Amino acid sequence: MPKLKTQYVCAECGHETAKWLGRCPGCGRFNTFEEEVVERAAKTSATRANASAKARTLAEVSPLAEERIKTELAELDRVLSGGIVQGSIVLVGGDPGVGKSTLLLQICESIGRQGKRVLYVSGEESMQQIKLRAGRLSVATDMLWLLAETDVTAIEQSVRELEPAVVIIDSIQTMYRDDLTSSPGSVTQVRECTSAFMRIAKGLGVSVIIVGHVTKEGAIAGPRLLEHMVDAVLYFEGERRESYRVIRAVKNRFGSTNEVGIFEMRDIGLTEIANPSEYMLSGRPVDVSGSAVTCTVEGTRPIMTEVQALTGYTSFGNPRRTAAGMDYNRVVMLIAVLEKRMGMQLSSYDCYVNIAGGMRIQEPAADAAVIAALASSFRNKTIDPNTLVFGEVGLAGELRAVGMAEKRIAEAKKLGFEQCVVPQANLKGIRTPEGIRVLGASSVGELMEAVLL
Ligand code: TYD
Ligand code: MG
Repeated sequence: MPKLKTQYVCAECGHETAKWLGRCPGCGRFNTFEEEVVERAAKTSATRANASAKARTLAEVSPLAEERIKTELAELDRVLSGGIVQGSIVLVGGDPGVGKSTLLLQICESIGRQGKRVLYVSGEESMQQIKLRAGRLSVATDMLWLLAETDVTAIEQSVRELEPAVVIIDSIQTMYRDDLTSSPGSVTQVRECTSAFMRIAKGLGVSVIIVGHVTKEGAIAGPRLLEHMVDAVLYFEGERRESYRVIRAVKNRFGSTNEVGIFEMRDIGLTEIANPSEYMLSGRPVDVSGSAVTCTVEGTRPIMTEVQALTGYTSFGNPRRTAAGMDYNRVVMLIAVLEKRMGMQLSSYDCYVNIAGGMRIQEPAADAAVIAALASSFRNKTIDPNTLVFGEVGLAGELRAVGMAEKRIAEAKKLGFEQCVVPQANLKGIRTPEGIRVLGASSVGELMEAVLL
């Protein structure tokens, strides 16, 4: 028997080395190397699959009619730029429990209704468990086949027999190829199983949707390797305690990655939120200090959100600062701006900032609303509930312009807001719609004057 050769593979980026290293030279992360047995046979069969290919000129290649299967969940179809492309391979990533299996089981119903077969392969749940969930989600189509299997060869066999239009693999971390010695979930298995599914997708013209769990660091285990192998990567985000969910394309070979789909997790499964602004602002307190409304842009969609802040005199030496739904360091910086530029003595006050509704804001456009909410709570003055504020705040206390100002103002108008306070620099060259007052502010001081009643 030949001597087994081993190598070390980074579980994050797939970097390979002959010796174990503490820090990956590829991605710079620590302690990510796993030992893997080098599989010669697997490599050659993969290369041979391509050996039959023949080069052709562009004109010789007949264009493929890009057939898309609609999931009939408008929010998901939007992220997929119109539907699942036939013969494509899509990776859906997300934290455990966020709702990946739920979403994929739900789309089986509408695909089945279009007369197309779906094979749902689960390596995590038994058929009885899936049946139970299907009942709860009112999935009852005859076109859905279930398979509790983790061996890729057996799955390929089923796909060949059944000839479904869509195959769902839940999840890639449980799948294995028995000709490889490493255990399921290891980098080699995840990579080789994905490439096997890729060959099934391209060879048989079946669309394959793969579920991938996300590691603590927020990447799909064995991640970057998978991202470049598949045609589209969708991330499913959301706090488990909150019902709000966002699905985002981070890669899409068939369309834009600029779209997000928004859902609410309910007892009957995931339901679409067609008007996220209304959803986010529902149940908002009025005439209470510490609440400001801003508008962030997710992909190309403006979403109105409430930013809440609470300040209270601290009884400890060190004041507490917390930020939920926002970058903590950004909030600390904004507090420092208020102290230095507005003379607010927040160093003896606890400050809590929260984005209502479980949304995560990454845009600096929300700065102005955080500042306004903090000042409102500190001064105990309310902000008019029909006022929208947005703008990036700089360290000098200036209010800087942000992109897509017109879109944000239009969204506020749609929801019946009466006033917008925006960065002065944004007012140049934009047309403001009728029926809404738009004020420009060039500094945090001017912002305070405009919004604090
Ligand atoms: P699931 O789809 O199993 O998550 P994943 O596959 O991403 O790990 O979702 C599980 C959670 O969703 C679970 O905590 C319960 C909740 N849930 C609902 O709130 N309503 C429902 O109708 C279903 C099926 C699940
Ligand atoms: Mg699951």
